[in-house]
Amino acid sequence: MTMRSLGAAWPPLLHAVRRTSHQGAAAAAPPGAERIGAGIGRLSNLVLERGEGSWVYTADGEKYLDFSTGIGVTNLGHCHPHVTEAVRQQIGKLWHAQVNIAYHSQMLKLTEKLEKVMPGDGGLTSFLFVTTGSEAVEAAVKLARHATKKPNVIVFQGGYHGRTLLTMSMTTSGTKYRAGYGPHAAGIFVAPHPFFALREQSEADHAAWAVEQLEMMLLQQTAPSETAAVVLEPVLGEGGYVPPAPGLLQGIRDFCDRHEILFIADEVQSGFGRTGRMFAVDHDGVCPDILVFAKGVASGFPLAGIASRRELTSTQPAGSQGGTYAGNAVACAAANATPGTGIFTGSWRGAHVLSLLR
Ligand SMILES: Cc1ncc(COP(=O)(O)O)c(C=O)c1O
Repeated sequence: MTMRSLGAAWPPLLHAVRRTSHQGAAAAAPPGAERIGAGIGRLSNLVLERGEGSWVYTADGEKYLDFSTGIGVTNLGHCHPHVTEAVRQQIGKLWHAQVNIAYHSQMLKLTEKLEKVMPGDGGLTSFLFVTTGSEAVEAAVKLARHATKKPNVIVFQGGYHGRTLLTMSMTTSGTKYRAGYGPHAAGIFVAPHPFFALREQSEADHAAWAVEQLEMMLLQQTAPSETAAVVLEPVLGEGGYVPPAPGLLQGIRDFCDRHEILFIADEVQSGFGRTGRMFAVDHDGVCPDILVFAKGVASGFPLAGIASRRELTSTQPAGSQGGTYAGNAVACAAANATPGTGIFTGSWRGAHVLSLLR
């Protein structure tokens, strides 16, 4: 099955094993639901109590096969014993070592592990950890602006980059994320995505068309001298689960090089094995200037970050990045244990889930 056909056949996210005996989406809202703000919204009223591997269990003892993986997070399944043990050990030692106060050994160890799996030929050796994917996207934009001394960023139609003020302004996968929350952040320019514009045409035409549109944007909307970065989800996520057309990533890489614009790959959702390679850009052998990661990195513990080149990060003033919970020690311990399971690829997970369905 290709990535595209998987996307088109997006299954019910929480699949009841025996539908008839399960309440599923029809379950009544639990007591206390009225105290949770309506802005959150959710697909079901299930109250999850426990997770194990690909299964989750409700407070009523119902068992569900979890296709949602917490939206691209629990790549190893729920509560993998190897990660659970690493977290237990870390909890007995140190929970919080604030990143602007001191180092902690789990973070230092993690940089070594991540450096080895980053795309490209060893350029992405500088890491900055935060807590959420949105924060990491914001950190990437801050870095691009600071390093290039240019204000604007180009994003793609249909992209999802988060719900904070800046990342909401970069998100065009659905107006539900934006409507009523304006005015939006300045300096964001939305490039057309070939998937939406050229649906009926051969994918062979998509890359050249997309790059031509980017060139037009530099002529008509944001000059190269004002454009810091192009931000792209290599696999469009919320916008339709669309893998990149052949040559698209390389075309954008070349475009960025031609105009001294940085290429930021938002791999928050596509990273850590979800496309069968460590990162989606690995399929095309393309290396971004800044790679944004989150979700699968720590198997469900809140951790995110960016990887970049040292010459870009080294001029940032000390203290201009960070955060109270940035790179939390327990989350880093979970991240360090995640590859140690030896089942780190999406292809393994995909085969496992399919075997459960048969
Ligand atoms: C591609 C992408 N970028 C950024 C984000 C935002 O991450 P978070 O929800 O952790 O802030 C998401 C979340 O789904 C995402 O899929």
